Amino acid sequence: MSTNPYQDDRGNKDRSITAEPPAHLGDPTETTGPATAAEGRPFLMGEAMTGGYRGGADILHDCTIAVDPGEIAVIVGPNGAGKSTAMKAIFGMLDLHGGRVVLDGQDISHLSPQDRVARGMGFVPQTANIFTSMTVEENLEMGAFIRRDDFRGTMEQVYDLFPILRDKRRQAAGELSGGQRQQVAVGRALMTQPKVLMLDEPTAGVSPIVMDELFDRIIEIARSGLPVLMVEQNARQALEIADRGYVLVQGRNAYTGTGAELLADPEVRRSFLGG
Ligand SMILES: Nc1ncnc2c1ncn2[C@@H]1O[C@H](COP(=O)(O)OP(=O)(O)OP(=O)(O)O)[C@@H](O)[C@H]1O
Ligand SMILES: [Mg+2]
Repeated sequence: MSTNPYQDDRGNKDRSITAEPPAHLGDPTETTGPATAAEGRPFLMGEAMTGGYRGGADILHDCTIAVDPGEIAVIVGPNGAGKSTAMKAIFGMLDLHGGRVVLDGQDISHLSPQDRVARGMGFVPQTANIFTSMTVEENLEMGAFIRRDDFRGTMEQVYDLFPILRDKRRQAAGELSGGQRQQVAVGRALMTQPKVLMLDEPTAGVSPIVMDELFDRIIEIARSGLPVLMVEQNARQALEIADRGYVLVQGRNAYTGTGAELLADPEVRRSFLGG
């Protein structure tokens, strides 16, 4: 077992990376969403999302994606299915003309991506997710841009989670291996102390061993209480660690269930998992 301080939350006094999920999000000026809306509803939900890119046809059709604290939710599906688009929609980068996004009981559909970060969303996009000419440490500092408090403790937690980044903290992020870059990208998102972590293909382009290691770290993050919503090309492996799984096809929910249910579904196996 590692000595990671937030792997075991008993006795861990500084859980700043994993800031307690619900609590102090309540904004008294918020007019949408009654306080009771959170009851029995997922912590983060893109609900019945319909929309596309500016000026284009709809990509998402009535698409629903959700995740709760302690969970890993995984979106899988063929190339072009709309997985990244669904993530971008939840993060506020798309104009939805149907559905809504709810975070901790509040409708945040009208908020900009930056405001969603301030509300607790950490998003690692599929591409261009680090500043390659900056050092590892500068990347992490950039991640903390919304914070006014001392973020050194969070940085130490990121280094405890990904020890290689501590060793390479003075190195340009562009000089790192693919797997190490993905660690920088995840670490950068953790620096905002998000209440939910969204990862678009965190294991893209890495070897199976590095993929396993990244998945282990993602499990560690989720078990610390921080909900993780991720898109994965490695569908079988991702569903094995998924509490919730979504198979998207042509912007629609094709199959939804626990990871185990989807792995056991003959249709899903035949169509998306290679039998
Ligand atoms: N910025 C954009 N502007 C216009 N259309 C886009 C844009 N990004 C993606 N699309 C279109 O949206 C559809 C879904 O793309 P998306 O990137 O969401 O798929 P994906 O499931 O993430 O695929 P992949 O597995 O290849 O990452 C595609 O038809 C794509 O061409
Ligand atoms: Mg994608």
